[in-house]
Amino acid sequence: MNMVSKITQNTDPFSLAKELSGFHLIDGEMVRAASGKTFDVVNPATGEKVGEAAAGDAADVDRAATAAARAQKAWKAMPARERGKLVTECGRRLMERVEELGRLVALETGKALRTESRVEASVLADAFVFYGGLASELKGETVPFNPDMLTVTVREPIGVVGAIIPWNVPLMLMALKVAPALVAGNTVVVKSAEEAPLTVLRVCQIMNEVLPPGVFNILSGFGPECGAPLVSHPAVGKITFTGSVETGKIVSKAAADKLIPVTLELGGKSPMIVFADADLDKAVAGAVAGVRFTRQGQSCTASSRIYVHADIHDEFVARLKAKADAMKMGNPLDESTDIGTIISTDQLEKVRGYIQKGVDAGGTANHCSQLPDDPALKKGLFIQPVIFTDISADAPPSREEIFGPVTCVFKFTDYEEVIAAANNSEYGLAATVWTNDLKTAMDATRRLEAGFVQVNQNLVVQPNLSYGGIKHSGLGKEATLEAMLEHFTHKKTIIFNMK
Ligand code: NAI
Ligand code: MG
Repeated sequence: MNMVSKITQNTDPFSLAKELSGFHLIDGEMVRAASGKTFDVVNPATGEKVGEAAAGDAADVDRAATAAARAQKAWKAMPARERGKLVTECGRRLMERVEELGRLVALETGKALRTESRVEASVLADAFVFYGGLASELKGETVPFNPDMLTVTVREPIGVVGAIIPWNVPLMLMALKVAPALVAGNTVVVKSAEEAPLTVLRVCQIMNEVLPPGVFNILSGFGPECGAPLVSHPAVGKITFTGSVETGKIVSKAAADKLIPVTLELGGKSPMIVFADADLDKAVAGAVAGVRFTRQGQSCTASSRIYVHADIHDEFVARLKAKADAMKMGNPLDESTDIGTIISTDQLEKVRGYIQKGVDAGGTANHCSQLPDDPALKKGLFIQPVIFTDISADAPPSREEIFGPVTCVFKFTDYEEVIAAANNSEYGLAATVWTNDLKTAMDATRRLEAGFVQVNQNLVVQPNLSYGGIKHSGLGKEATLEAMLEHFTHKKTIIFNMK
């Protein structure tokens, strides 16, 4: 019998944050940190404390990884489709809780409910349904090695997977790791991001109504204190990480010491190229989606470098600014709000620093939208989005990942030059191309150095579309059947000699 019993839906995020305060979820139980320590969870729209999270350390990691290793024996032995059915059932229950999860993630991250948080909660549920249905695809091969031998391959789970996730899209990014890992027969320990620990804990609690104890565990805590011991724990056989390049390298080095595989989804500085023949209405709408104005630009695929043909540059910038100006910044929980807040004061300072560096380098900062005038939000981490024009390609905002509502628009005339400029980046995550000319679209999509390239649209990550970067944007792909097979199983060869 499962220790997390049927939990009642709670769509009041303030009381739910209190209800979830101070816990990890280990071995099917809500437990406090071994040290008894907690840290505050703050509403970035007001600066008020709304709850607490358990401050995990090596002792909690050991407890969770040990429980996960114990649970993995029975979980692996279960027929794949049975596991798939349980994961699909998790997805179904999460789908019923979209409102609850959306409101809570809006409270802890400051992402607007209507434009971002509710959408993210439904993508989370959908990812579990998607992967649950792929369970019977964990198939092997027969190999024509020798007629006297039956040579087959089977896919086996790795064991215990450690997943380290960030705060910008915590639900979706967690789902794209946990769902394939579980379906493939692994058990999981997640280390949540310190800025967004509560909604993912709620997800784990809802899933523990369905899953056997120890199959899915979650810890909150800081990177060095809780993330690092998870990577180095002897029971953990695989690390999947989403976050900064800097931390990705630290995680990767620690995993190398144990010789375990890592998947890394890191940053980006994604180009958008708008050719002179592009449908301008579509391109401007695509830029609004691409810059992620509604998420204050806190996205690894944000279109943070926009190259526009000189013939349409001024018109494009004017229309983009007008659209951004029309967006309403305000309380993330209000249905009328388009744009919420930045996640934390550190991140806000980082964004402000980049805007200043862009101005110092001679760029023109076009500030968009309006700060909210509600006095209740005066301590909120709001910032006006900035569209830089006339900025040099060498200025820090043109080159470095900001993870804020800042984009740089550059003018181009020459095709070869714009492709070279777009590829002149240490990153290679996403890119978009806007043109009605088939030859231009074909050539550009082939030559752009990125893992995810789109023409005349700007969709976000979707289940069944391979997602991940090249260069410093990461190692390995997510969101597909192949991602489950490649990153959460190993292939075993078995030979029967029949002679
Ligand atoms: P981060 O990469 O430091 O944090 C991501 C996760 O790694 C968190 O759960 C954190 O606790 C954990 N972590 C930190 N140090 C660790 C360590 N030594 N061992 C194991 N785990 C560790 O990112 P952070 O500090 O939240 O944001 C910094 C910048 O990173 C952002 O401004 C943005 O540029 C980038 N970023 C990119 C993301 C993406 O989606 N690719 C997501 C979040 C941040
Ligand atoms: Mg960090």
